[in-house]
Amino acid sequence: MSKSDKSAKTNPEAVSKEAADKAHLDIRGKKLDLDILKATMGPDVIDVQNFYKRSGYFTFDPGYTSTASCESKITFIDGDEGTLLYRGYPIDQLAEYGDYLETCYLLLYGELPTQAERRQFDDAITYHTMVQEQMSIFFRGFRRDAHPMAIMVAVVGALSAFYHDSLDINDPEQREIATRRMIAKVPTLAAMAYKYSLGQPFVYPRNDLDYASNFLHMCFSVPAEDYKVNPVLARAMDRIFILHADHEQNASTSTVRLAGSSGANPFACVAAGIACLWGPAHGGANEAALNMLEEIGTPERIPEFIARAKDRNDPFRLMGFGHRVYKNYDPRAKIMQRTAHEVLSEVGHKDDPLLQVAHELEQIALKDDYFLERKLYPNIDFYSGITLRALGFPTSMFTVLFALARTVGWIAHWREMIADPTRRIGRPRQLYTGPVRRSYVPMSKRGTGLGADYHRD
Ligand code: CMC
Repeated sequence: MSKSDKSAKTNPEAVSKEAADKAHLDIRGKKLDLDILKATMGPDVIDVQNFYKRSGYFTFDPGYTSTASCESKITFIDGDEGTLLYRGYPIDQLAEYGDYLETCYLLLYGELPTQAERRQFDDAITYHTMVQEQMSIFFRGFRRDAHPMAIMVAVVGALSAFYHDSLDINDPEQREIATRRMIAKVPTLAAMAYKYSLGQPFVYPRNDLDYASNFLHMCFSVPAEDYKVNPVLARAMDRIFILHADHEQNASTSTVRLAGSSGANPFACVAAGIACLWGPAHGGANEAALNMLEEIGTPERIPEFIARAKDRNDPFRLMGFGHRVYKNYDPRAKIMQRTAHEVLSEVGHKDDPLLQVAHELEQIALKDDYFLERKLYPNIDFYSGITLRALGFPTSMFTVLFALARTVGWIAHWREMIADPTRRIGRPRQLYTGPVRRSYVPMSKRGTGLGADYHRD
């Protein structure tokens, strides 16, 4: 008799408790009990870790819509409610009362810092902002018209070639140094990528400025003139960083975790995350959303684009609309909309025609059955493009700013995974539908013509 059978016999309550905590499965007559693991918020999960061993079957979930790929304590999203919490704190409170470095501390260490912890953390980040001078030579190898995301994938990966003393993932101190280095240096590298595209000299970081102000300074000042950071714009930049800091197991974070599961160094893992973020369905959407608003141009053309978005035969989608998890208004989009207004007023563009197009497009889509039925609401990228453009950034830099802000989220997840003693390499399986085993055919027996597949595009 197994342990659970015994307790069920002696304690009737245990039967119902146990029954409630198990999922029962009948696979072609074979009965299987699966543990249900408790979440503190959100859906509990059915544990299928030994499912293949016990059943001989794989589970099938391309796109991972029903799969919890890991256990995590960092970020919680309720997509139906439109809730986003970092370590339990609502995103709107952090954006309103906190700042980015405090948010970084929270994501990395689980609690808001005390005053002393905050001072220590700020110092640790501030005094790592410069990059090895040799990196600037590495930059000069790129064409001037290289996309800054292409540069970022390369230079962040290259940090592992410059900082050999923080590559041992099994040493907690080295993990800590790599963490601080990346949060400190990624803004410097992002600003260098921007300056390089302009043909302007790189601007060194200034340790007397806060994180966001220093970044604006490195992007927009030139050695020939004085540059004063506008505090309203710096606060908006900081808030944009907070909004993008983490988002649970999204595609790029999962990429970082998967890359890290093999034991790859943290700089290489974050470079993998940046590569994934570049895609238009993920971080590239803010650039695509602004391009779309520019293409629409005037409110009169909105119905034409709404019709295209609804047409199954047209690949066009309303960029900045819809989300894999949010089936309600993305909570970040509301804060971004407010930030867009603040920035546009500050730079004297409060009547920006694109803002008008965005508002009207949003209003029309939110009343349209197609979008309502599919629960497609504006996401963070709908207003971020307008805001970033008003801050002075070209569209090619938008995803870079997202990568900068998300670096802390990637590292927080990487650290959580590495510190987990049960960590194993991530290795999904597949539903194989290719040819069954067959024998090699010698060239002389393969016919003389071109195969049917040869002329494919
Ligand atoms: N415009 C028009 N139709 C859409 C859109 C859209 N933006 N998004 C989804 N749909 C339709 C889609 O055609 C499908 O319709 P049907 O059921 O008739 O086939 C239905 O809605 C479900 O779409 P899906 O592609 O199965 O949904 P998904 O969860 O796989 O995709 C998404 C999520 C974000 C990739 C998608 O909504 C999209 O492409 N949106 C535009 C790009 C965008 O704004 N991305 C930024 C995401 S937020 C930032 C981030 O986290 O990186």
